[in-house]
Amino acid sequence: MTMFRIDGGSKLRGDVSVAGSKNSALAILSAVVLTEAPITLRGVPNIADVKIKSDLLRRFGAKITEDDSNLLIDCGTIFDGHADEETVRAIRTSFYLLGPILARVGKIEIPAPGGCKIGLRPVDLHLKGLALMGAKITLEGGVYRATADRLHGANVYLDSPSAGATQHLMTTACLAEGVTVIQNAAMEPEITTLARFLGQLGARIEGAGTSTITIYGQRKLGGANFVIPADRMQAGTYLLAGAITRGSVRVNGILPEEHTAVVNKLIECGADVEQGYDWIRASADGRLNGTRVKTMPHPGFPTDMQQPMAALLATAKGASVVEETIYESRTGHVNELVRMGAEMRIEGRSVIINGVEKLKGAGVVASDLRAGAALCLAAMAAEGESHIRNIEMIDRGYHCFEETLRSLGAKIDRVANQERRLAH
Ligand code: EPU
Repeated sequence: MTMFRIDGGSKLRGDVSVAGSKNSALAILSAVVLTEAPITLRGVPNIADVKIKSDLLRRFGAKITEDDSNLLIDCGTIFDGHADEETVRAIRTSFYLLGPILARVGKIEIPAPGGCKIGLRPVDLHLKGLALMGAKITLEGGVYRATADRLHGANVYLDSPSAGATQHLMTTACLAEGVTVIQNAAMEPEITTLARFLGQLGARIEGAGTSTITIYGQRKLGGANFVIPADRMQAGTYLLAGAITRGSVRVNGILPEEHTAVVNKLIECGADVEQGYDWIRASADGRLNGTRVKTMPHPGFPTDMQQPMAALLATAKGASVVEETIYESRTGHVNELVRMGAEMRIEGRSVIINGVEKLKGAGVVASDLRAGAALCLAAMAAEGESHIRNIEMIDRGYHCFEETLRSLGAKIDRVANQERRLAH
C-alpha cells in the first residue's frame, strides 16, 4: 500500500495540460460494443477505472490493446459473457454495458452495481428507459438478467437529468429500431462528447447537450478513430491548486466555457482568473474570501468539484456554505479536513465552513476520488507534512497526479504506507 506524503506551503506555479476525460472515456467504453468495426481511442487517461472497464469488456469478448495513451478496440465478437460482482461494483459504469450489449446480442446478465461512499446511486432511470425500449429485465440474487429481440425506439422522460442514464439510453438507442426521444436529458459536456463519438460510428443523434435528445436507430454501425477531450475535473482541480496555494496555475487545452461555474466562484472568492481560447489561469496572492456554492446538474456547479472547493473555502476569510444537491452523502472529506484544523460541520445537505488562517498537516484518509483530491489540495496549502492514505481512490480518476503537481512545484511523493503495514 502507498500513500502521498505532501510537504505543504509551496506556491504552485506554471502550465499544465490535462489528460483525457475519465467520464467521457468510461461512457465511450460502454458504446464500443455497438459495432463490429475496429475503434481507436486516443488520449485515453491512464487511470484505474479505465483499466477495470477494459478488463470487463474483455470478459464480453472485446479485444483491447493498449499502445501508449491509445486503446485499439475490436468488438468483432461480443457475447453475453460473465461479469463478476466485485468488478461490476468497482466502477459504476460497468452497469452501463447492459443496454449496448443487449442491443448487440439480445441478452446479458450483469450484477447490480450497488451504492457507494457518496450516495445510494440507484439505476431506476436506466431500467425504466430500457424497459420502454422493449427490454425484459429481471433482478434475482443481485443479478440483472435482460433479454430482447430487437429493441425499439421510445419516448423516455427522465425524472432527473441523470448523466449515466442519458448516456446509457442514448447509446442503446443507436441500435434500436425507430426513433428514441429522451426528455429531461442531462446536458453535461460528456454527453456531447459521447454523441460525437457515436456520430463517428454512423449514429444519427440530435440535441445532445440540450434537455431533449433524439436518436434515430440504425441496424449497424461502423468504426471510429476518436480523441478523448481533456478532463474538466482534473482541469478544475489544478486551477483550485493554483488558488489555494496562492500561486498561479494555467491549464491548457481545455474549453473555458465548460468551467464557467467554477471560474465564477473563484472570481467571487477574489482569485484572479484570466482565460483565452483554450486555456484558463487562476492566481491568488493573498487569502481568498468565503462564498456560497450549490451543486447542480450541468451547467450548474459540478458536484465533482464540490469537495475540492470546500478545501479551498476552508482557508478563505469568513463563512462559506457548500450545498450538495446531487448526492446524499458526498461529505467524506469533512472530518478529514477538520483533522487538518478546518472549522466545518455538516448540516443536512450542506457543509458550513468558518475559514481558518492556516491548515496544519495531518494524517488523513481519502474516502472517495474527489475527497482525495480535496485532501491533497488542503495538504499543499497547509503548514507541515500530511500523509494521505487510501490513494487508490485518487488513482481511479487522476492521470499522473503527483507528477503533474510536482511539475507545478508541489512537494508530493508516493511512499510506502508504513502505518498500514504495521497494522497488518
Ligand atoms: N440517479 C437516480 N437514478 C438513476 C440514476 C441516477 O436516482 O437511475 C441519481 C444518482 O443516485 C445521483 C444523481 O441521480 O444522486 C446523479 O447521478 P448521475 O446518473 O447523473 O451520475 P452518474 O452518471 O452515476 C456521473 C459521473 C460522476 C458525476 C455524476 C454527476 C461517471 C463515471 N460518473 O455519474 O462522476 O458525479 O455523473 O455529474 O461519469 C466523479 O468523477 O467523481 C464522479 C462521481
